[in-house]
Amino acid sequence: MPGLPPARTPGSYRIALVCLGNICRSPTAHVVLEQRLADAGLDDRVEVASSGTGGWHVGNPMDRRAAATLSAAGYDPTRHRARQYDDSWATAYDVVLVMDEANLADVGGRTDRVGLFRDLDPVDPGAEVPDPYYGGDDGFEEVLAMVERTSEAIVTALDDVLRGADGPPGDPA
Ligand code: 4NP
Repeated sequence: MPGLPPARTPGSYRIALVCLGNICRSPTAHVVLEQRLADAGLDDRVEVASSGTGGWHVGNPMDRRAAATLSAAGYDPTRHRARQYDDSWATAYDVVLVMDEANLADVGGRTDRVGLFRDLDPVDPGAEVPDPYYGGDDGFEEVLAMVERTSEAIVTALDDVLRGADGPPGDPA
């Protein structure tokens, strides 16, 4: 899945971010990507959601370390509530981006619309976002850095996908 797949409905896009617990990595990516989309003026055309393949934390707010890392960087982590992934997400969303290879196996593997979040990382494409849950605070800082640069690349890719969808007739783009 190089780049982003085309929109199912031209002109808008739905993107799902998935990890194991939906309290650390995919919520961090969710908050950062939504902020970047708002900054780019694309928040009215792109919907972001996140979930975990495991259901232990459903309904809970973000892990307090993930929330503290986001707050310190100027983001609002307070609205998140954990959800669980199910197979309906794979057909409802334009793309499902998961954090690591275990998540990828849990959702049934790669497809045209399912891949790794860091497939779009300009620094180390195809790498995993490592699970910070059992580690120290450094792990959360590392996750935020890779999520920030990858989210910027995703916004650029979304801009291209949406621009291609509503360019004027005959526009070669
Ligand atoms: P996440 O981190 O997948 O980034 O949300 C984890 C959160 C909780 C657990 C594992 C990973 N857990 O085992 O409860």
